Amino acid sequence: MIHSIPNASIVLFGATGDLAHRKLFPALYQLYQKGHMKENFSVVGVSRKEFSHEEFQAEVASAIHEHAKGADRQIVEKFASHFYYLKMDVTSEASYHELEELLNVLDRDYQTNGNRLYYLAMAPKFFGTIPTFLKSEGITNTEGWQRIVIEKPFGNDLPSATKLNEEIQQSFNENDIYRIDHYLGKEMVQNIQVIRFGNAIFESIWNNKYIDSVQITSSETLGVEDRAGYYEKSGALLDMVQNHMLQMVMMVAMEPPGELKPEHIRDEKVKVLRSLRFFSEEEVKKNVIRGQYSEGTMNGNQVPGYLNEENVDPESRTETFVAAKLFIDNFRWTGVPFYIRTGKRMAVKSTEIVIQFKQGPMALYHANTENYQPNLLRIHVQPDEGVSLTLNAKPKGDTPDLLPIDMTYNNNSTAEMNSPEAYEKLLHDCLLGNSTYFTRWDEVALSWDFIDRITKSWQDGTGSNLTHYPSGSMGPEEADELLKADGHSWWEPTKVREEC
Ligand code: BG6
Repeated sequence: MIHSIPNASIVLFGATGDLAHRKLFPALYQLYQKGHMKENFSVVGVSRKEFSHEEFQAEVASAIHEHAKGADRQIVEKFASHFYYLKMDVTSEASYHELEELLNVLDRDYQTNGNRLYYLAMAPKFFGTIPTFLKSEGITNTEGWQRIVIEKPFGNDLPSATKLNEEIQQSFNENDIYRIDHYLGKEMVQNIQVIRFGNAIFESIWNNKYIDSVQITSSETLGVEDRAGYYEKSGALLDMVQNHMLQMVMMVAMEPPGELKPEHIRDEKVKVLRSLRFFSEEEVKKNVIRGQYSEGTMNGNQVPGYLNEENVDPESRTETFVAAKLFIDNFRWTGVPFYIRTGKRMAVKSTEIVIQFKQGPMALYHANTENYQPNLLRIHVQPDEGVSLTLNAKPKGDTPDLLPIDMTYNNNSTAEMNSPEAYEKLLHDCLLGNSTYFTRWDEVALSWDFIDRITKSWQDGTGSNLTHYPSGSMGPEEADELLKADGHSWWEPTKVREEC
């Protein structure tokens, strides 16, 4: 439900960066344009660059015109007038005094009641430093609420994430720490719980008695682009699996919460991670495939392999693709494999969840035809948004054959043109103090614990070997073999049909 956002000041660390320009300014603008944010707010952009308030406002306006849908010139101008700029060295005490002075003026001018949201959209090495200074320099000491939003990566393994968490918790309570995973802001990821818990026909068969397997694919067509500095150290495992992929697994596998309250939902999600089978080195080798893209053809154009990308070590063993077979050892899911795969430079950009149901007890119809398809429930996360259910039916006429048909709901065509994007939803929620779609510390810790074992196995050389796949394909053959061994194959991403 959309509520009006309370008066507040937002301090945006990393205000001249890409994320701010492409996602955060447009997201805040949409909230303003739709009337969810009224006039009593201010945004202080912080970075190391030199800008006047006016220059910064012009930057904000131009980012919105470039990236926000249907931006109105007059509204943009009024919106941008709420923005202020402060050049800061975030490691220097003196900078925080200037910030405090500015915020005190803005608190008064915009009647924010001391409510402050700090958004850390900058290099992770400062994630611990900034909250410490915010508290030690008294900036968090106001009458209003204080919340902090942390972008990913939240650490790069369990020890570093724990250290970072301890640092942040010296200054902010867990309830006021909003760890962002933008996949949780996606319309169809949030829809998973409604599709499941709002439909008895699904929830009653959502278990190992009726579900054969689950597949989650998140494929990208882009390569590493200009992010090699970061990506070389993270690879697909840390970049996508530790966070986005595991979040989708949790949403599919969680038990129904007692109530739709943040802690009820997050409690159920964390229980999934507790039941996730943590792999031994031998199990990593068997169940996790890592790949790296080599050169290939995308849309008819020849593209370089990962090793020839800018700033990539020519001997790099960083994976740009991961496929894995996961097991959730609990009453509901024992025996149901969760296959996940994600990678860069793949044939299509698509995120899709496929629930494959078991066959009925007697093969009355499907024994004599190749057309038979298991029932599939596909949740199309992106680029199309929707749900489709594959059924078998009799084709028109007197042929005895079977015809798989799709019943489809297309969210793209029914939603209003400017349906909220992930960052808009997440900013809205944290300004209202709703942490449902943010990751709690115990989720983060468990997911790192799971991932660290894979990383360690790979580092020790006993885990999976690095495989290769041509750019423009759907990943290495080994990922197909992983499923073939169980009599399965990957369901290729589909489109939601327009006419439905
Ligand atoms: C980010 C990763 O978290 O998610 C990127 O760092 C990746 O490497 C991106 O490209 C994918 O997000 P989306 O929303 O485009 O699927």
